[in-house]
Amino acid sequence: MPNDFITLGIETSCDETALAIYHSERGLLAHQLYSQVAMHNEYGGVVPELASRDHIKKILPLLKATLAAANLPLTAINGIAYTQGPGLAGALLVGASFAKSLALALNIPALGVHHLEAHLLAPMLEPNAPELPFIALLVSGGHTMLVAVRALNRYEILGETLDDAAGEALDKTAKLLGLSYPGGPALEKLAQQGDPASFVLPRPMTDRPGLDFSFSGLKTVAANLLQTAANTDPNLKANLAAAFQLAVVDTLVKKAERALIQTDFKTLVVAGGVSANQLLRQRMQAMVSAKGAEVFYPRLQFCTDNAAMVAYTGALRFQRGEKDADLRIKIKPRWELTLI
Ligand code: KG4
Ligand code: ZN
Repeated sequence: MPNDFITLGIETSCDETALAIYHSERGLLAHQLYSQVAMHNEYGGVVPELASRDHIKKILPLLKATLAAANLPLTAINGIAYTQGPGLAGALLVGASFAKSLALALNIPALGVHHLEAHLLAPMLEPNAPELPFIALLVSGGHTMLVAVRALNRYEILGETLDDAAGEALDKTAKLLGLSYPGGPALEKLAQQGDPASFVLPRPMTDRPGLDFSFSGLKTVAANLLQTAANTDPNLKANLAAAFQLAVVDTLVKKAERALIQTDFKTLVVAGGVSANQLLRQRMQAMVSAKGAEVFYPRLQFCTDNAAMVAYTGALRFQRGEKDADLRIKIKPRWELTLI
């Protein structure tokens, strides 16, 4: 493996088409992203078929834009890393087919990357990168899990959600409150005008041992409260948003704290879309400071789906000499993190 290995990363697992270029010595050279959020907003959630079609439309122009931003010709790319799963099958197929065909045409290797591994390694792209081992709390629209990262490629799932992901619960509650998709950021904004103490909500599964989560009951409690509350309070929705956000945040912080105690690790990584939440960051910071531990996040734009994290994860794998000589296009819409 030469020192100046250039990896192209491709992310198409859900509703973001993203490409990035990572240089083994110089770091991230360029990243581009097109979000389909406005298109799916109309339907209140991601429509898989529309997502796939839009990835097809955007992927080539984005490749050109990424190369231009890095000021590199296509032939400078030494390897391609694409998100192989988990995610929407049709959407994954677009990225995988594009990556494999391009790699074949350029006679360079292509490797499939696990989307969640990419999320949890995203803070490594920052100058102040966390050191191993660490606990990773992955909180996105599709996943909520605590992972012990003992070494790169050694992931142990300590706990995960038994039903809804934290982001999914925030999105569904936001929808009930009449907010637009994706609901997490909109709910965060509305919550700023509310009083979290005006509703008493449970902190699910914190009263029993273990590191699993459950958010669907919490969402139902919020839905019932919204239905029964007197509609005379003009601040009802903001108050419920604030109380709901705090209940989700408290629960995540409590479980992350437990994971640190259980493993005796001193480093926590919080990644995935929900890690952009400012209240979550404040509360996590207070928790780790009190324990003499440290918390790391990806930069805000790399909390949600992006290709920089995919290019970086692929670059690590190329560096380790991993190869995939199979020409067949294979995706893994369901893929356990421990089975990489
Ligand atoms: O990682 P991500 O982009 O996609 C996957 O699910 O893989 O995460 C998206 C999720 C959505 O549920 C969205 O509402 C949530 O992250 N999210 C937030 C915030 N920004 C995004 N939740 C709370 N506060 C935010 N600021
Ligand atoms: Zn994601």
